[in-house]
Amino acid sequence: MNPLELSPADFRRLADRLSTLAEQWLTELDARAIAPATTGAASEALFAEGLPEEGLKDAALDALGPVIAGTRAGNARFLGYVLGSGEPVGALGDYLAGVLNQNVTAWRSAPTLVSMERAVVRGLAAAVGCPGFTGSLTGGGSSANLMGLTMAREAKAPANEEGSPTGVVYASTEVHMSIPKALALLGLGRRNLRLISTDEEWRMRPELLERAITEDLSAGRRPLAVVATAGSVNTGAVDPLKDVAAIARRHGLWMHVDGAYGALAALAVPERFEGLALADSLSMDAHKWLYQPVDCGVLLFRDAAAARRAFSFSGDYVRSMSTDAVESFAFFEESLELSRRARALKPWLSVRYHGLRAFREAIRKDLENARRLAELVRAEPRLELLAPVPLSAVCFRYVAGLPEAERNAFNTKLLARLNARGRVYLSNATLSGNFVLRACFVNHRTTPEDVQMVVAEVLAAAAELTHAGTVSL
Ligand SMILES: Cc1ncc(COP(=O)(O)O)c(C=O)c1O
Repeated sequence: MNPLELSPADFRRLADRLSTLAEQWLTELDARAIAPATTGAASEALFAEGLPEEGLKDAALDALGPVIAGTRAGNARFLGYVLGSGEPVGALGDYLAGVLNQNVTAWRSAPTLVSMERAVVRGLAAAVGCPGFTGSLTGGGSSANLMGLTMAREAKAPANEEGSPTGVVYASTEVHMSIPKALALLGLGRRNLRLISTDEEWRMRPELLERAITEDLSAGRRPLAVVATAGSVNTGAVDPLKDVAAIARRHGLWMHVDGAYGALAALAVPERFEGLALADSLSMDAHKWLYQPVDCGVLLFRDAAAARRAFSFSGDYVRSMSTDAVESFAFFEESLELSRRARALKPWLSVRYHGLRAFREAIRKDLENARRLAELVRAEPRLELLAPVPLSAVCFRYVAGLPEAERNAFNTKLLARLNARGRVYLSNATLSGNFVLRACFVNHRTTPEDVQMVVAEVLAAAAELTHAGTVSL
Protein backbone atom coordinates (compact mmCIF):
# COMPACT_ATOMS: atom_id res chain seq x y z
CA MET A 1 0.00 0.00 0.00
CA ASN A 2 1.21 3.50 -0.84
CA PRO A 3 2.20 4.95 2.55
CA LEU A 4 0.89 8.42 1.69
CA GLU A 5 -2.50 7.15 0.59
CA LEU A 6 -5.45 6.75 2.96
CA SER A 7 -8.04 4.02 2.74
CA PRO A 8 -11.61 5.35 2.47
CA ALA A 9 -12.21 4.16 6.04
CA ASP A 10 -9.12 5.98 7.34
CA PHE A 11 -10.12 9.14 5.53
CA ARG A 12 -13.61 9.00 6.97
CA ARG A 13 -12.30 8.41 10.50
CA LEU A 14 -9.91 11.37 10.36
CA ALA A 15 -12.49 13.61 8.70
CA ASP A 16 -15.04 12.67 11.38
CA ARG A 17 -12.57 13.51 14.15
CA LEU A 18 -11.82 16.86 12.56
CA SER A 19 -15.53 17.55 12.05
CA THR A 20 -16.15 16.78 15.73
CA LEU A 21 -13.40 19.18 16.78
CA ALA A 22 -14.76 21.86 14.44
CA GLU A 23 -18.31 21.39 15.67
CA GLN A 24 -17.16 21.57 19.29
CA TRP A 25 -15.23 24.76 18.60
CA LEU A 26 -18.28 26.35 17.04
CA THR A 27 -20.66 25.30 19.82
CA GLU A 28 -18.27 26.44 22.55
CA LEU A 29 -17.47 29.83 21.05
CA ASP A 30 -19.24 31.74 23.77
CA ALA A 31 -17.66 29.78 26.59
CA ARG A 32 -14.11 30.36 25.36
CA ALA A 33 -11.88 33.22 26.38
CA ILE A 34 -11.66 35.67 23.52
CA ALA A 35 -8.02 36.34 24.24
CA PRO A 36 -6.53 33.05 25.45
CA ALA A 37 -4.07 33.36 28.29
CA THR A 38 -0.93 32.19 26.58
CA THR A 39 2.59 33.46 26.11
CA GLY A 40 5.06 33.39 23.26
CA ALA A 41 7.10 30.80 25.11
CA ALA A 42 4.06 28.58 25.70
CA SER A 43 2.88 28.64 22.09
CA GLU A 44 6.41 27.96 20.80
CA ALA A 45 6.76 25.08 23.26
CA LEU A 46 3.81 23.30 21.63
CA PHE A 47 5.95 22.79 18.56
CA ALA A 48 9.36 22.41 20.14
CA GLU A 49 9.85 18.79 19.14
CA GLY A 50 9.86 19.65 15.44
CA LEU A 51 8.56 17.46 12.63
CA PRO A 52 8.56 13.70 13.26
CA GLU A 53 10.55 11.31 11.11
CA GLU A 54 8.03 8.53 11.67
CA GLY A 55 4.32 9.11 11.25
CA LEU A 56 2.11 9.22 14.35
CA LYS A 57 -1.02 8.05 12.52
CA ASP A 58 -4.23 9.02 14.33
CA ALA A 59 -2.25 10.28 17.32
CA ALA A 60 -1.09 13.11 15.04
CA LEU A 61 -4.43 14.74 15.67
CA ASP A 62 -4.05 14.63 19.45
CA ALA A 63 -1.78 17.65 19.36
CA LEU A 64 -4.63 19.71 17.91
CA GLY A 65 -6.29 20.03 21.33
CA PRO A 66 -3.88 22.60 22.80
CA VAL A 67 -3.58 24.33 19.42
CA ILE A 68 -7.32 24.88 19.26
CA ALA A 69 -7.45 25.83 22.95
CA GLY A 70 -5.01 28.63 22.17
CA THR A 71 -7.11 30.16 19.38
CA ARG A 72 -9.25 33.23 19.81
CA ALA A 73 -12.89 32.43 20.18
CA GLY A 74 -14.16 34.47 17.23
CA ASN A 75 -17.46 34.76 19.05
CA ALA A 76 -20.12 37.46 18.95
CA ARG A 77 -18.03 39.86 21.05
CA PHE A 78 -14.82 39.68 19.06
CA LEU A 79 -14.84 43.19 17.63
CA GLY A 80 -11.14 43.87 17.10
CA TYR A 81 -9.41 44.87 13.86
CA VAL A 82 -11.57 44.14 10.79
CA LEU A 83 -11.90 40.43 11.34
CA GLY A 84 -14.87 38.75 9.71
CA SER A 85 -16.58 36.16 11.87
CA GLY A 86 -16.01 33.07 9.72
CA GLU A 87 -19.25 31.67 8.31
CA PRO A 88 -19.23 27.84 8.71
CA VAL A 89 -20.59 26.90 5.27
CA GLY A 90 -17.70 28.89 3.79
CA ALA A 91 -15.33 26.88 5.98
CA LEU A 92 -16.73 23.65 4.55
CA GLY A 93 -16.15 25.05 1.07
CA ASP A 94 -12.53 25.64 2.04
CA TYR A 95 -12.19 22.06 3.22
CA LEU A 96 -13.49 20.77 -0.10
CA ALA A 97 -11.11 23.11 -1.95
CA GLY A 98 -8.20 21.37 -0.26
CA VAL A 99 -9.48 17.90 -1.07
CA LEU A 100 -10.20 18.70 -4.72
CA ASN A 101 -6.78 20.36 -5.00
CA GLN A 102 -7.38 21.96 -8.36
CA ASN A 103 -5.09 24.58 -9.77
CA VAL A 104 -7.59 27.33 -10.53
CA THR A 105 -5.28 29.19 -12.82
CA ALA A 106 -6.72 28.51 -16.27
CA TRP A 107 -9.90 27.02 -17.63
CA ARG A 108 -8.05 24.04 -19.01
CA SER A 109 -6.54 23.19 -15.60
CA ALA A 110 -9.78 23.56 -13.61
CA PRO A 111 -12.72 24.21 -15.94
CA THR A 112 -15.66 24.23 -13.55
CA LEU A 113 -13.83 25.99 -10.73
CA VAL A 114 -12.54 28.70 -13.07
CA SER A 115 -16.08 29.28 -14.27
CA MET A 116 -17.25 29.29 -10.63
CA GLU A 117 -14.72 31.97 -9.68
CA ARG A 118 -15.65 34.06 -12.70
CA ALA A 119 -19.30 33.79 -11.69
CA VAL A 120 -18.59 34.66 -8.03
CA VAL A 121 -16.56 37.71 -9.07
CA ARG A 122 -19.24 38.86 -11.52
CA GLY A 123 -21.95 38.26 -8.94
CA LEU A 124 -20.16 40.21 -6.20
CA ALA A 125 -19.41 43.04 -8.65
CA ALA A 126 -23.10 43.28 -9.56
CA ALA A 127 -24.10 43.05 -5.88
CA VAL A 128 -21.99 46.10 -4.96
CA GLY A 129 -23.25 48.11 -7.92
CA CYS A 130 -20.40 47.49 -10.36
CA PRO A 131 -22.04 45.30 -13.00
CA GLY A 132 -19.77 44.40 -15.87
CA PHE A 133 -16.61 44.48 -13.75
CA THR A 134 -14.52 41.32 -13.77
CA GLY A 135 -11.49 40.30 -11.74
CA SER A 136 -10.31 37.56 -9.43
CA LEU A 137 -10.18 36.40 -5.85
CA THR A 138 -6.97 37.19 -3.99
CA GLY A 139 -5.25 36.42 -0.70
CA GLY A 140 -6.72 39.60 0.76
CA GLY A 141 -7.14 43.33 0.44
CA SER A 142 -3.39 43.96 0.53
CA SER A 143 -2.72 41.84 -2.53
CA ALA A 144 -5.81 43.22 -4.28
CA ASN A 145 -4.52 46.75 -3.63
CA LEU A 146 -1.07 45.81 -4.92
CA MET A 147 -2.63 44.36 -8.06
CA GLY A 148 -4.85 47.41 -8.57
CA LEU A 149 -1.86 49.73 -8.31
CA THR A 150 0.20 47.51 -10.60
CA MET A 151 -2.53 47.90 -13.20
CA ALA A 152 -2.56 51.65 -12.60
CA ARG A 153 1.17 51.90 -13.16
CA GLU A 154 1.07 49.80 -16.32
CA ALA A 155 -1.85 51.84 -17.65
CA LYS A 156 -0.40 55.26 -16.94
CA ALA A 157 3.38 54.80 -16.90
CA PRO A 158 4.29 51.38 -18.27
CA ALA A 159 7.45 49.80 -16.94
CA ASN A 160 9.98 49.05 -19.62
CA GLU A 161 12.87 46.62 -19.72
CA GLU A 162 15.10 49.11 -17.91
CA GLY A 163 12.84 49.50 -14.92
CA SER A 164 9.83 51.50 -14.02
CA PRO A 165 9.32 55.21 -14.37
CA THR A 166 8.19 57.17 -11.37
CA GLY A 167 4.84 58.73 -10.81
CA VAL A 168 2.73 60.14 -8.02
CA VAL A 169 -0.15 58.40 -6.27
CA TYR A 170 -2.69 60.25 -4.10
CA ALA A 171 -4.65 58.98 -1.12
CA SER A 172 -6.07 60.42 2.08
CA THR A 173 -4.13 60.60 5.33
CA GLU A 174 -6.43 57.76 6.51
CA VAL A 175 -5.10 55.40 3.84
CA HIS A 176 -4.44 51.80 4.86
CA MET A 177 -0.80 50.76 5.21
CA SER A 178 -1.15 48.30 2.33
CA ILE A 179 -1.10 51.24 -0.10
CA PRO A 180 2.33 52.67 0.87
CA LYS A 181 3.53 49.07 0.95
CA ALA A 182 2.25 48.52 -2.59
CA LEU A 183 4.02 51.67 -3.78
CA ALA A 184 7.24 50.51 -2.19
CA LEU A 185 6.92 47.05 -3.75
CA LEU A 186 6.22 48.55 -7.15
CA GLY A 187 9.36 50.64 -6.91
CA LEU A 188 7.34 53.83 -7.14
CA GLY A 189 8.79 55.04 -3.86
CA ARG A 190 6.85 55.81 -0.72
CA ARG A 191 7.73 59.47 -1.15
CA ASN A 192 5.58 59.47 -4.23
CA LEU A 193 2.49 58.90 -2.14
CA ARG A 194 0.80 62.25 -1.50
CA LEU A 195 -1.36 62.15 1.59
CA ILE A 196 -4.35 64.43 1.23
CA SER A 197 -5.90 65.85 4.39
CA THR A 198 -9.38 64.83 5.44
CA ASP A 199 -12.45 66.75 6.56
CA GLU A 200 -14.04 66.56 10.00
CA GLU A 201 -15.46 63.15 9.06
CA TRP A 202 -12.08 61.74 8.04
CA ARG A 203 -12.90 61.84 4.29
CA MET A 204 -10.45 63.00 1.65
CA ARG A 205 -10.91 66.67 0.77
CA PRO A 206 -11.33 66.79 -3.02
CA GLU A 207 -10.22 70.42 -3.35
CA LEU A 208 -6.90 69.51 -1.72
CA LEU A 209 -6.54 66.55 -4.07
CA GLU A 210 -7.05 68.86 -7.02
CA ARG A 211 -4.48 71.28 -5.64
CA ALA A 212 -1.89 68.57 -5.03
CA ILE A 213 -2.25 67.23 -8.58
CA THR A 214 -1.94 70.72 -10.05
CA GLU A 215 1.19 71.39 -8.00
CA ASP A 216 2.79 68.13 -9.08
CA LEU A 217 1.98 68.83 -12.71
CA SER A 218 3.50 72.28 -12.57
CA ALA A 219 6.61 70.84 -10.90
CA GLY A 220 6.97 68.45 -13.86
CA ARG A 221 5.97 65.34 -11.92
CA ARG A 222 3.68 62.66 -13.30
CA PRO A 223 0.42 61.99 -11.45
CA LEU A 224 -0.53 58.33 -11.94
CA ALA A 225 -3.36 57.30 -9.74
CA VAL A 226 -5.64 58.22 -6.90
CA VAL A 227 -6.64 55.75 -4.23
CA ALA A 228 -10.00 56.50 -2.69
CA THR A 229 -10.93 54.63 0.47
CA ALA A 230 -14.40 53.13 0.83
CA GLY A 231 -14.35 52.38 4.53
CA SER A 232 -11.19 53.59 6.25
CA VAL A 233 -9.70 51.17 8.70
CA ASN A 234 -9.85 53.62 11.62
CA THR A 235 -13.32 55.11 11.39
CA GLY A 236 -15.01 53.60 8.33
CA ALA A 237 -14.85 56.90 6.42
CA VAL A 238 -15.89 56.70 2.78
CA ASP A 239 -14.10 59.24 0.58
CA PRO A 240 -16.33 61.31 -1.74
CA LEU A 241 -16.04 58.80 -4.55
CA LYS A 242 -17.87 60.80 -7.22
CA ASP A 243 -15.83 63.94 -6.65
CA VAL A 244 -12.57 62.01 -6.52
CA ALA A 245 -13.50 60.15 -9.71
CA ALA A 246 -14.29 63.42 -11.50
CA ILE A 247 -10.86 64.82 -10.59
CA ALA A 248 -9.12 61.58 -11.58
CA ARG A 249 -10.90 61.61 -14.92
CA ARG A 250 -10.16 65.26 -15.60
CA HIS A 251 -6.43 64.66 -15.10
CA GLY A 252 -6.32 61.23 -16.75
CA LEU A 253 -5.47 59.38 -13.52
CA TRP A 254 -6.32 55.79 -12.68
CA MET A 255 -8.81 55.53 -9.83
CA HIS A 256 -8.37 52.62 -7.45
CA VAL A 257 -10.83 52.23 -4.60
CA ASP A 258 -9.66 50.45 -1.46
CA GLY A 259 -12.90 48.92 -0.33
CA ALA A 260 -11.26 46.08 1.60
CA TYR A 261 -13.15 46.91 4.75
CA GLY A 262 -16.21 48.76 3.52
CA ALA A 263 -17.22 48.10 -0.06
CA LEU A 264 -19.20 44.92 0.55
CA ALA A 265 -21.54 46.95 2.76
CA ALA A 266 -22.86 48.28 -0.56
CA LEU A 267 -24.94 45.09 -0.54
CA ALA A 268 -26.97 46.65 2.25
CA VAL A 269 -26.52 50.42 1.93
CA PRO A 270 -25.60 51.18 -1.71
CA GLU A 271 -26.47 54.86 -1.24
CA ARG A 272 -23.40 55.28 0.97
CA PHE A 273 -21.12 54.20 -1.88
CA GLU A 274 -22.29 56.44 -4.67
CA GLY A 275 -19.62 56.56 -7.37
CA LEU A 276 -18.10 53.15 -6.58
CA ALA A 277 -18.66 52.06 -10.17
CA LEU A 278 -16.54 54.96 -11.41
CA ALA A 279 -13.42 53.16 -10.19
CA ASP A 280 -10.99 51.60 -12.62
CA SER A 281 -10.15 49.00 -10.00
CA LEU A 282 -11.68 48.13 -6.64
CA SER A 283 -10.50 45.89 -3.84
CA MET A 284 -12.89 44.19 -1.41
CA ASP A 285 -12.51 41.50 1.24
CA ALA A 286 -15.05 38.72 1.42
CA HIS A 287 -13.14 37.55 4.52
CA LYS A 288 -14.17 40.77 6.21
CA TRP A 289 -17.71 41.91 5.49
CA LEU A 290 -18.97 38.80 3.76
CA TYR A 291 -17.96 36.80 6.84
CA GLN A 292 -15.97 34.25 4.83
CA PRO A 293 -13.03 32.41 6.38
CA VAL A 294 -9.63 33.95 5.62
CA ASP A 295 -8.46 34.18 2.86
CA CYS A 296 -10.88 35.64 0.38
CA GLY A 297 -9.98 39.03 -1.10
CA VAL A 298 -11.42 40.33 -4.35
CA LEU A 299 -9.97 42.57 -7.04
CA LEU A 300 -12.47 43.99 -9.50
CA PHE A 301 -11.63 45.97 -12.60
CA ARG A 302 -13.48 47.52 -15.45
CA ASP A 303 -11.05 46.62 -18.24
CA ALA A 304 -9.59 43.12 -18.39
CA ALA A 305 -7.14 44.25 -21.07
CA ALA A 306 -5.54 46.55 -18.47
CA ALA A 307 -5.12 43.55 -16.17
CA ARG A 308 -3.47 41.57 -18.95
CA ARG A 309 -1.10 44.46 -19.71
CA ALA A 310 0.04 44.29 -16.10
CA PHE A 311 0.09 40.56 -15.50
CA SER A 312 0.41 38.61 -18.75
CA PHE A 313 3.92 37.23 -19.13
CA SER A 314 2.94 33.93 -20.70
CA GLY A 315 5.63 31.46 -21.57
CA ASP A 316 5.17 28.78 -24.18
CA TYR A 317 4.41 26.04 -21.71
CA VAL A 318 1.27 27.75 -20.53
CA ARG A 319 0.00 29.00 -23.89
CA SER A 320 -3.57 28.01 -24.59
CA MET A 321 -4.37 26.45 -27.94
CA SER A 322 -8.05 27.24 -27.67
CA THR A 323 -9.73 30.18 -29.34
CA ASP A 324 -12.90 29.89 -27.29
CA ALA A 325 -13.23 32.92 -24.99
CA VAL A 326 -13.88 30.80 -21.90
CA GLU A 327 -11.69 27.84 -22.73
CA SER A 328 -8.67 30.04 -23.39
CA PHE A 329 -9.24 32.09 -20.23
CA ALA A 330 -6.44 32.14 -17.67
CA PHE A 331 -6.48 33.88 -14.29
CA PHE A 332 -2.69 33.89 -14.30
CA GLU A 333 -2.83 36.40 -17.15
CA GLU A 334 -4.86 38.81 -15.01
CA SER A 335 -3.31 38.17 -11.61
CA LEU A 336 -0.07 38.07 -9.62
CA GLU A 337 -0.59 34.40 -8.95
CA LEU A 338 0.09 31.37 -11.10
CA SER A 339 -0.90 28.40 -8.96
CA ARG A 340 -4.19 29.35 -7.34
CA ARG A 341 -6.46 27.58 -4.88
CA ALA A 342 -10.22 27.23 -5.25
CA ARG A 343 -11.06 30.27 -3.13
CA ALA A 344 -14.43 30.71 -4.81
CA LEU A 345 -15.81 27.55 -3.23
CA LYS A 346 -16.32 29.32 0.10
CA PRO A 347 -18.35 32.35 -1.02
CA TRP A 348 -20.14 30.34 -3.68
CA LEU A 349 -21.35 27.63 -1.29
CA SER A 350 -21.98 30.09 1.51
CA VAL A 351 -24.07 32.49 -0.61
CA ARG A 352 -25.94 29.65 -2.29
CA TYR A 353 -26.73 28.16 1.09
CA HIS A 354 -27.89 31.36 2.78
CA GLY A 355 -28.82 33.62 -0.16
CA LEU A 356 -27.63 37.18 -0.70
CA ARG A 357 -30.55 38.51 1.31
CA ALA A 358 -29.18 36.92 4.49
CA PHE A 359 -25.85 38.68 3.95
CA ARG A 360 -27.53 42.03 3.32
CA GLU A 361 -29.43 41.57 6.59
CA ALA A 362 -26.31 40.58 8.52
CA ILE A 363 -24.52 43.70 7.24
CA ARG A 364 -27.51 45.84 8.20
CA LYS A 365 -27.39 44.34 11.68
CA ASP A 366 -23.69 45.19 11.97
CA LEU A 367 -24.43 48.78 10.94
CA GLU A 368 -27.24 48.92 13.47
CA ASN A 369 -25.04 47.47 16.23
CA ALA A 370 -22.41 50.12 15.53
CA ARG A 371 -25.03 52.87 15.64
CA ARG A 372 -26.34 51.44 18.92
CA LEU A 373 -22.88 51.39 20.48
CA ALA A 374 -22.30 54.99 19.38
CA GLU A 375 -25.57 55.97 21.08
CA LEU A 376 -24.69 54.15 24.29
CA VAL A 377 -21.30 55.87 24.32
CA ARG A 378 -22.90 59.28 23.74
CA ALA A 379 -25.32 58.64 26.59
CA GLU A 380 -22.57 57.59 29.02
CA PRO A 381 -20.78 60.63 30.52
CA ARG A 382 -17.69 58.57 31.40
CA LEU A 383 -17.12 57.80 27.72
CA GLU A 384 -16.45 59.99 24.71
CA LEU A 385 -17.19 59.20 21.07
CA LEU A 386 -14.28 60.42 18.95
CA ALA A 387 -15.52 60.02 15.39
CA PRO A 388 -18.73 59.79 13.40
CA VAL A 389 -19.85 56.25 12.55
CA PRO A 390 -20.52 56.12 8.81
CA LEU A 391 -20.19 52.31 8.71
CA SER A 392 -19.46 49.91 11.57
CA ALA A 393 -16.27 51.13 13.27
CA VAL A 394 -16.85 52.93 16.57
CA CYS A 395 -13.99 54.91 18.10
CA PHE A 396 -14.34 56.04 21.69
CA ARG A 397 -12.42 56.40 24.95
CA TYR A 398 -12.83 56.58 28.68
CA VAL A 399 -12.51 60.13 29.99
CA ALA A 400 -14.10 60.38 33.45
CA GLY A 401 -11.92 62.30 35.87
CA LEU A 402 -8.91 62.09 33.60
CA PRO A 403 -6.91 65.16 32.63
CA GLU A 404 -6.31 65.30 28.87
CA ALA A 405 -2.64 64.45 29.32
CA GLU A 406 -3.43 61.13 31.01
CA ARG A 407 -6.13 59.88 28.68
CA ASN A 408 -3.88 58.10 26.20
CA ALA A 409 -1.97 56.18 28.87
CA PHE A 410 -5.13 55.29 30.75
CA ASN A 411 -6.99 54.05 27.67
CA THR A 412 -3.96 52.03 26.54
CA LYS A 413 -4.03 50.20 29.87
CA LEU A 414 -7.78 50.00 29.79
CA LEU A 415 -7.70 48.17 26.46
CA ALA A 416 -5.23 45.60 27.78
CA ARG A 417 -7.33 45.12 30.93
CA LEU A 418 -10.56 44.87 28.92
CA ASN A 419 -9.20 42.22 26.59
CA ALA A 420 -7.61 40.30 29.46
CA ARG A 421 -11.04 40.08 31.12
CA GLY A 422 -11.91 37.88 28.16
CA ARG A 423 -15.54 38.83 27.56
CA VAL A 424 -15.18 41.33 24.72
CA TYR A 425 -12.28 42.04 22.43
CA LEU A 426 -11.62 45.49 20.99
CA SER A 427 -8.60 46.92 19.21
CA ASN A 428 -7.36 50.49 19.02
CA ALA A 429 -6.71 53.39 16.70
CA THR A 430 -5.05 56.75 16.95
CA LEU A 431 -7.12 59.74 15.90
CA SER A 432 -5.46 63.18 15.94
CA GLY A 433 -2.97 61.87 18.47
CA ASN A 434 -5.67 60.37 20.69
CA PHE A 435 -5.50 56.70 21.60
CA VAL A 436 -9.01 55.33 21.11
CA LEU A 437 -10.78 52.05 21.73
CA ARG A 438 -12.19 50.75 18.51
CA ALA A 439 -15.05 48.27 18.04
CA CYS A 440 -15.60 47.10 14.48
CA PHE A 441 -18.75 45.16 13.66
CA VAL A 442 -18.16 42.73 10.81
CA ASN A 443 -19.50 39.85 12.84
CA HIS A 444 -22.70 37.99 11.94
CA ARG A 445 -22.96 36.67 15.52
CA THR A 446 -23.15 39.98 17.40
CA THR A 447 -26.46 40.85 19.07
CA PRO A 448 -27.72 44.08 20.72
CA GLU A 449 -27.05 42.42 24.12
CA ASP A 450 -23.42 41.96 23.11
CA VAL A 451 -23.25 45.65 22.28
CA GLN A 452 -24.45 46.51 25.77
CA MET A 453 -21.83 44.21 27.19
CA VAL A 454 -19.12 46.22 25.38
CA VAL A 455 -20.03 49.31 27.39
CA ALA A 456 -20.44 47.38 30.64
CA GLU A 457 -17.08 45.68 30.17
CA VAL A 458 -15.26 48.93 29.31
CA LEU A 459 -16.66 50.53 32.45
CA ALA A 460 -15.81 47.46 34.54
CA ALA A 461 -12.24 47.42 33.25
CA ALA A 462 -11.93 51.16 33.97
CA ALA A 463 -13.25 50.60 37.48
CA GLU A 464 -10.68 47.87 38.04
CA LEU A 465 -7.93 50.25 37.03
CA THR A 466 -9.14 53.18 39.09
CA HIS A 467 -10.12 51.15 42.17
CA ALA A 468 -6.76 49.51 42.17
CA GLY A 469 -5.65 53.07 42.91
CA THR A 470 -3.07 52.67 40.26
CA VAL A 471 -3.12 52.42 36.52
CA SER A 472 -0.43 49.80 36.38
CA LEU A 473 -1.49 46.37 35.21
C1 LIG B 1 -9.08 49.70 4.35
C2 LIG B 1 -8.27 48.44 4.31
N1 LIG B 1 -7.51 48.18 3.23
C3 LIG B 1 -6.75 47.07 3.14
C4 LIG B 1 -6.73 46.15 4.16
C5 LIG B 1 -5.86 44.94 4.04
O1 LIG B 1 -6.63 43.80 3.85
P1 LIG B 1 -6.02 42.35 4.13
O2 LIG B 1 -5.81 42.28 5.61
O3 LIG B 1 -7.07 41.42 3.64
O4 LIG B 1 -4.75 42.25 3.37
C6 LIG B 1 -7.49 46.38 5.32
C7 LIG B 1 -7.44 45.44 6.45
O5 LIG B 1 -7.99 45.68 7.50
C8 LIG B 1 -8.29 47.55 5.38
O6 LIG B 1 -9.07 47.81 6.45
